[in-house]
Amino acid sequence: MKIIEKNAQNLRIYVYDLTNPITENRLEKYHMGKATILDFIRSYFYGNTKLNFMRWLVRKDDYFIIRDRNTIIAWARICYKSTKEVELGSKEASLISGFTVKAYRNRGMHTALIKQMMIYLKNKGFKRCIVWAEENNMASRAVIEKNQFTLVSSPPKNIDVPLGE
Ligand SMILES: CC(C)(COP(=O)(O)OP(=O)(O)OC[C@H]1O[C@@H](n2cnc3c(N)ncnc32)[C@H](O)[C@@H]1OP(=O)(O)O)[C@@H](O)C(=O)NCCC(=O)NCCS
Repeated sequence: MKIIEKNAQNLRIYVYDLTNPITENRLEKYHMGKATILDFIRSYFYGNTKLNFMRWLVRKDDYFIIRDRNTIIAWARICYKSTKEVELGSKEASLISGFTVKAYRNRGMHTALIKQMMIYLKNKGFKRCIVWAEENNMASRAVIEKNQFTLVSSPPKNIDVPLGE
């Protein structure tokens, strides 16, 4: 991976080595998984959270969601392409953005999604995932840090971290 310094100012960038063990967080009451076409459709009819069709169809990002019946209460996505902030190397993907509906925050939703996306990538043979948070986004930082991601840039610098194999 290579951090694009001019676009990563004010970001904390973290990496997780997917060869390390990852324990799944199960959420008993809710459905959790990779979003299907039905979830995209549901998102337009129930609740206020709309999943972005174009990111899925054109960019091929994978969305992961948590649903309370038909309503999407949390989502996050895997991005397989380089972005303006980070140039991806081989077998690397970014976990980009994420959102939990306010009433459901601080109940482990985002943590569970992050873990599920990491396990998904690991099973597909990916070696590293990259994630970032705005310096002042304490909730986002808390989720990343409690999941043992390694901080690689804060404040951002131009670094080129070789893929350790
Ligand atoms: C960031 C976000 C996705 C987290 O979702 P979530 O489902 O509440 O996440 P979790 O419940 O798994 O974890 C939240 C953690 O943040 C901590 N937290 C929340 N607000 C905090 C604050 N102001 N300062 C420090 N920690 C905070 C919680 O204590 C919790 O940690 P804990 O489990 O150790 O107690 C959610 O806050 C959100 O949707 N924010 C708006 C969109 C956003 O900023 N997205 C992030 C990247 S683009």
